[in-house]
Amino acid sequence: MAERTALCQASSLEVGAMARFEVAGEDPLLLINDGGEFRLIDDDCTHAIASLSEGRLEGGVIFCPLHGGSFDIRTGKARSLPCKQTLRTHKVSVKDGVVYYEG
Ligand code: FES
Repeated sequence: MAERTALCQASSLEVGAMARFEVAGEDPLLLINDGGEFRLIDDDCTHAIASLSEGRLEGGVIFCPLHGGSFDIRTGKARSLPCKQTLRTHKVSVKDGVVYYEG
């Protein structure tokens, strides 16, 4: 059965901001406020070992801090080399002002 995990208050993450979360039994997750819509993606870059939470967000694209590869935060698709492998995206919801990971 799907499990819902509270991540944070929606108001705590401004537009364009992102935050890393560790949920038991899961790889680290990265929550992004994308113009008022929340996106939840894997925080680990698919190229090597780097946390995308330390990267740069430009519009709907996140750039890895280590080698500068990038991903579309809406689809997880790699946008520029050296990233090739799609990043996992996750279901997220907002209820009563709280952001949930729908794991
Ligand atoms: S570890 Fe992210 S681009 Fe290399």
